Amino acid sequence: PRPIILTRHGQSQDNVRERVGGDSVLSEAGEVYSKKLAKFLEKRLKSEKTASIWTSTLQRSILTANPIVGFPKIQWRALDEINTGVCDGMTYEEIKRNMPEESILREKDKLRYRYLRGESYLDIIQRLEPVIIELERQQAPVVVMSHQAVLRALYAYFADKPLKEIPFLEVPLHTIIEIQMGVSGVEEKRYKL
Ligand code: G3H
Repeated sequence: PRPIILTRHGQSQDNVRERVGGDSVLSEAGEVYSKKLAKFLEKRLKSEKTASIWTSTLQRSILTANPIVGFPKIQWRALDEINTGVCDGMTYEEIKRNMPEESILREKDKLRYRYLRGESYLDIIQRLEPVIIELERQQAPVVVMSHQAVLRALYAYFADKPLKEIPFLEVPLHTIIEIQMGVSGVEEKRYKL
């Protein structure tokens, strides 16, 4: 069985400021994570002949992969974070204050709520389809370095979680989720670095 390793990018400057969207670089803690992650993967993948690192096209994801050497890296736009449209760069507080109706709509149906000129969780699930097809085709381990909303959807697919739980799944920062597809189903390990 080959592992699929999922992780969010290291903490970004926008994570610290609690802003959604954006394309910020890593915070100091995020940089520390990127280095720890590289060490972890070096050990974890030592016995593997090949492996590949898939990132999004956003800086925080690419920078998290930076310290990892010796494996091919591929950027996927389909792994970019949920597009928050007109809310890009705002905090949840600001969204609540400036667009209370939008906040309420999202609270009522987080799965289907589509940000104005942006995306919903359902949109993400749809755009992940080619990524999933390619992941299933791979013979070697793949490390997917993406974002919270996207990894919730990806994780749900492999862990067989119901659609309605997707927007609420726990995918914390600085945590590695390793999924193994074996004969007896899916096995999961989590490592907090
Ligand atoms: O801004 C994007 C977040 O990673 C998604 O979090 O869907 O819980 O608001 P949320």
